[in-house]
Amino acid sequence: MSDPGSGLAVEVRGLTRVFDAVPALDGVDLEIPRGAVFGLLGPNGAGKTTTVRILNGVLDPTRVDVLRVLGQDLPQGADLVRPQVGVQTDTNLYDRLSARANLSLFARFYGLAKKAADQRADELLDMFGLLPRAAERVEKFSKGMKQKLLIARSLVGAPSLVYLDEPTAGLDPEASHELMSYIRTVSRAQHTTFFITSHRLDEMEDVCTKVAVLAGGVIRAQGSPAAVARAAVPRVRVHVTPAPGVRIAPGELLALPGATHAESLDGYIAVDLRSVRAVPEFVRAAAALPHDLLGVADVPPTLQEAYLALVGSQPGAPDPAPDTAAQTGTEVAS
Ligand SMILES: Nc1ncnc2c1ncn2[C@@H]1O[C@H](COP(=O)(O)OP(=O)(O)OP(=O)(O)O)[C@@H](O)[C@H]1O
Ligand SMILES: [Mg+2]
Repeated sequence: MSDPGSGLAVEVRGLTRVFDAVPALDGVDLEIPRGAVFGLLGPNGAGKTTTVRILNGVLDPTRVDVLRVLGQDLPQGADLVRPQVGVQTDTNLYDRLSARANLSLFARFYGLAKKAADQRADELLDMFGLLPRAAERVEKFSKGMKQKLLIARSLVGAPSLVYLDEPTAGLDPEASHELMSYIRTVSRAQHTTFFITSHRLDEMEDVCTKVAVLAGGVIRAQGSPAAVARAAVPRVRVHVTPAPGVRIAPGELLALPGATHAESLDGYIAVDLRSVRAVPEFVRAAAALPHDLLGVADVPPTLQEAYLALVGSQPGAPDPAPDTAAQTGTEVAS
């Protein structure tokens, strides 16, 4: 059954894909609200590109219970979905055509007349800082410039849903930052849904409204970046920063209520606490010490820490302990 009114851009249940008798995806469930910036994170070989290819209709699942994109069941509704979707793939620019011609040609596939297509091309080239090079053949472009052009091309048809598979690979930090700002703006202003795979956890933490961590073809956790981090990294930490010239021994803080560990770092002391409930009393006690402080700051776990806890620090690392997977393998509330 299709449900065009659904609030979900992507709904997947029980997605399994087997290659040569080995499952690349093993019972994946995903729920991506319309307008979300969704990040699919995971080590090399986790199954991210396989997921994108199946959602994008270029690869068939081996088994699936629900595979619904923009309210349409796939593969039946694929023709209705395709015009509303943009995809950045890693090939397929016309090297001998100019940057403008590449985008304009694509815009014409979406039904724009020549003039409107050229305008759309220039708009996107401008956004990615490529307008001064618009008339040059793409074969002369650097890797990062080609990458920008591929991303621009995925946006030509003003899609409702955009798949970006490692979009910032090859981009310099400024270009990555601009792309993330653009994604944030477009998702808010036009309610466009972005489905991004990436290894850049810092970027994903900033831009994504929802993430899922995939490893070994299994979803280990999904939810907001903060919720995933809290569920996967069960520690509570504060940083106590003394005023300039003031010295505090870690032992003084470790003696305060709720503290379980204290360590002097570069200009501050990191203190682990028993639980969130222990924080207010600890803060009061720290402020009552006979030392001037610049501040006591709550330091929530990062997405990077959660990722390492969920998949291990090495690419292709073995599965985490079963109790960790059980604790975090389901949706976690924001
Ligand atoms: N066409 C194929 N034939 C056989 N095996 C494949 C095929 N495509 C993918 N696989 C296997 O499926 C698994 C997942 O691959 P996939 O490309 O989805 O990983 P990924 O998460 O995108 O990794 P990366 O971060 O390296 O891009 C890998 O073990 C890969 O070898
Ligand atoms: Mg990939």
